[in-house]
Amino acid sequence: MTTALITGASSGIGAAFADRLAADGHDLVLVARSTAVMEEHADRLRRAHGIAVDVIGQDLAEPDAPERVLAALGGKPVDLLINNAGFGTCGRFEDIDAEQDRRQIMVNVAALVGLTHALVPGMLARGSGGVINVASTAGFQISPHFSVYSSAKTFVLNFSLALWAEYRGRGVNVLALCPGPVETSFFDVIGTREAAVGGKFITPEVVVDAALKALARNRGYVVPGRSNFALAHLMPRRPRKLVALIAKRVTGGVVGATRRPDAVAVNT
Ligand SMILES: NC(=O)c1ccc[n+]([C@@H]2O[C@H](COP(=O)([O-])OP(=O)(O)OC[C@H]3O[C@@H](n4cnc5c(N)ncnc54)[C@H](OP(=O)(O)O)[C@@H]3O)[C@@H](O)[C@H]2O)c1
Repeated sequence: MTTALITGASSGIGAAFADRLAADGHDLVLVARSTAVMEEHADRLRRAHGIAVDVIGQDLAEPDAPERVLAALGGKPVDLLINNAGFGTCGRFEDIDAEQDRRQIMVNVAALVGLTHALVPGMLARGSGGVINVASTAGFQISPHFSVYSSAKTFVLNFSLALWAEYRGRGVNVLALCPGPVETSFFDVIGTREAAVGGKFITPEVVVDAALKALARNRGYVVPGRSNFALAHLMPRRPRKLVALIAKRVTGGVVGATRRPDAVAVNT
């Protein structure tokens, strides 16, 4: 029996990880802000699979969020860390709320690094463990109109591959999970489905299956779905300025398309 800690477990890809890992017999720790939603889900999983599920209600945009999560764990060892919580902003940079972008960096980057710092030493000491960091196909590209989101996901991709290299042969597998568009509430939060630029929509279950297979094989990163894989890899990288200018045309559809982003709304 192993324990998996999943951030952003209250919906979408995180909830699908919880369903799958519970069915595989793992104990779970669910982390997000929507405590009531997670408690209900936890009850269902306990009853269906006879596993232990803890719920930690935590806003991961808070600077001390990793320390608080660690304190709430009370010394429970975590064998699999899934840094999945995240949201995006899009549109013209000057139109995006600065506080919203600050929170985005705290959740998508700072909390992810903090939780990795907090939990990987225990995995190394035990000689086994895994980390899945949810990046995006956006992390492969320069993306005008998604400047903060895509740059944060580039960080997650490169950070994960750096740790993958560091921990190879030390019992800890690290994976950057890089989905293209997935059917979740991500697009309600970002404010428009126009944010699914290119790529083919797939389900959270397909994403989770691809991630767990890739982690078991210590692949370093995975782009679920053939056409999303092709898109992520066929995009030219150079010359950088020309790529940025072409990408600006491709992503232009989100300008003016967003309803008021509601990323701080929470269903407690
Ligand atoms: N859907 C896509 O097309 C797509 C594509 C590529 C990558 N991704 C990435 O996949 C990950 C999961 O997103 P999703 O598609 O499953 O979207 P989602 O259904 O909107 O789920 C986002 C999760 O993140 C949590 N979260 C957001 N802000 C938080 C905060 N301040 N503190 C704690 N938890 C927070 C949410 O929980 P609460 O609101 O309850 O806090 C929720 O559980 C994200 O990192 C996203 O960038 C998604």
